[in-house]
Amino acid sequence: MSDNLCFLNGDFMPLAEARIPVLDRGFIFGDGVYEVVPVYGRKLFRFDEHLARLNRSLGKLRLPQPATREEWLARCRQLVAARPEEDQVVYIQVTRGVAPRDHVMPANPVPTVFMMCNPLKPATPEQRHQGVSCTTARDFRWERGDIKSISLLGNVLARQMSADHGALETIMFRDGHLTEAAASNVWIAHEGALLGPPKSDHVLEGIRVELLRELCEDAGIAYNLRPISEADVRAADEVMLSSATKEILAVTHIDGEEVGHGALRGKPGPVYARLYEAYQRAKTTMSI
Ligand SMILES: Cc1ncc(COP(=O)(O)O)c(C=O)c1O
Repeated sequence: MSDNLCFLNGDFMPLAEARIPVLDRGFIFGDGVYEVVPVYGRKLFRFDEHLARLNRSLGKLRLPQPATREEWLARCRQLVAARPEEDQVVYIQVTRGVAPRDHVMPANPVPTVFMMCNPLKPATPEQRHQGVSCTTARDFRWERGDIKSISLLGNVLARQMSADHGALETIMFRDGHLTEAAASNVWIAHEGALLGPPKSDHVLEGIRVELLRELCEDAGIAYNLRPISEADVRAADEVMLSSATKEILAVTHIDGEEVGHGALRGKPGPVYARLYEAYQRAKTTMSI
């Protein structure tokens, strides 16, 4: 069972043996936050950036930080060491813990801390070479997409809309402007520049938002966060997704229509290709 080790409230144990009380507010209210940290060659990628976002999410929930950086790091490493794969993803979840059911927050919560590791499933060669398909939807989720909340019902419903059409993601628009996808940030390339929506309460600040800024800077690609209309997306030279597990992926079809222009229509484009290469190089230099 060593490859299914998890961490729960101070103890390492087989995942199959982990138990939480039914009155945990994560179960009752979805009252908690989470992180997903990629692991390459058994090293944690952008660990401090992920931890900083976890702490920001906890702060927005008014939850105390339940562990120090060194404790998080040691636990992550122990879980990674217990699995056979070189490339993995660490999942971290913190909830407001167990309390009598009441919307009002308990005065002195004892957070539930859960961590596990899974193998990283890389994009398939076909997805890399041909790009992926997405559908679109109105962004009907709540207005605090900036919190990496475990309350993911809106994202689950949105993601299923694409799954029902055999597509990989659902790109969402709020008031005619791009927000993000169900489990990814969304980018367009326009005249050689990488453009993403501005930071706001409607969009999760993905760890790749800053990473891509750095990769663009190194590669001499212009990078700008500014409002992007639905028409901008549909007329873009390139469209891309980013997330911990997708890294960066080219979107070549949206609602069944080919993305892009000319010879590159329906094919991954040059901005994607350069950022993909830069991302692969960053894996070795940005992991601890
Ligand atoms: C809604 C949403 N937006 C954006 C992202 C991308 O964030 P990151 O790059 O930190 O994985 C995710 C990741 O799962 C997400 O769920």
